[in-house]
Amino acid sequence: MNVIDAIKGRRSIRKFKQRDVPQKDIETIIDAARYAASGANMQPIKYAVMRNHKEVYPCTKWAGYLTDWDPAENERPLCYIAILGDAGIKKTFEPDAGAAITTMMLAAHEMGLGTCWLGAIDRAKLKEMLGTEHEVLYLLAVGYPAQESRAFDETDGNIKYYEDENGVINVPKRPMSEVNVGTRE
Ligand SMILES: Cc1cc2nc3c(=O)[nH]c(=O)nc-3n(C[C@H](O)[C@H](O)[C@H](O)COP(=O)(O)O)c2cc1C
Repeated sequence: MNVIDAIKGRRSIRKFKQRDVPQKDIETIIDAARYAASGANMQPIKYAVMRNHKEVYPCTKWAGYLTDWDPAENERPLCYIAILGDAGIKKTFEPDAGAAITTMMLAAHEMGLGTCWLGAIDRAKLKEMLGTEHEVLYLLAVGYPAQESRAFDETDGNIKYYEDENGVINVPKRPMSEVNVGTRE
């Protein structure tokens, strides 16, 4: 898979097959994140693998734009990677976390795995669960996809993704003509 195809083909996945992702694959994904860009190369991002998915799931929220939508019990992820910030290294984490998570999502996609970046999470509960001194930033759900999702260029300014009659998630992306605001010579 070439990089541009991976970038364009990756979509958030919110329904998963009930099959465990091998630990070595999860480690490959985390290892890829070590190579992500990092401000001043400080590398303050840490990771924890959470396979206690039944405990983690209540700390998450899914697909805010879909009404009354949650993965059913037999569609939920069996594994999460918690993305943590080590305040002993640096106090701000956002750009580094974004670079690391994007890298992990693309690595997982290349391996045939689906991911969903989760920001609507109960950080206090997860921190307690992990027993970590690090700041809990995000979760990344990882698993074998059981859902189709596609991107399309939207032209009417509506950025809300929707589920169609075939259960496919359709994700609007602002068109090039809108995001590329010009070239200065
Ligand atoms: C910072 C951030 C937080 C997000 N939090 C959630 C979340 O809590 N729950 C969820 O279902 N999706 C979440 N997402 C996924 C976005 O909804 C998704 O990336 C967006 O709709 C575009 O879809 P795509 O990833 O398929 O391109 C989050 C994405 C980002 C970047």
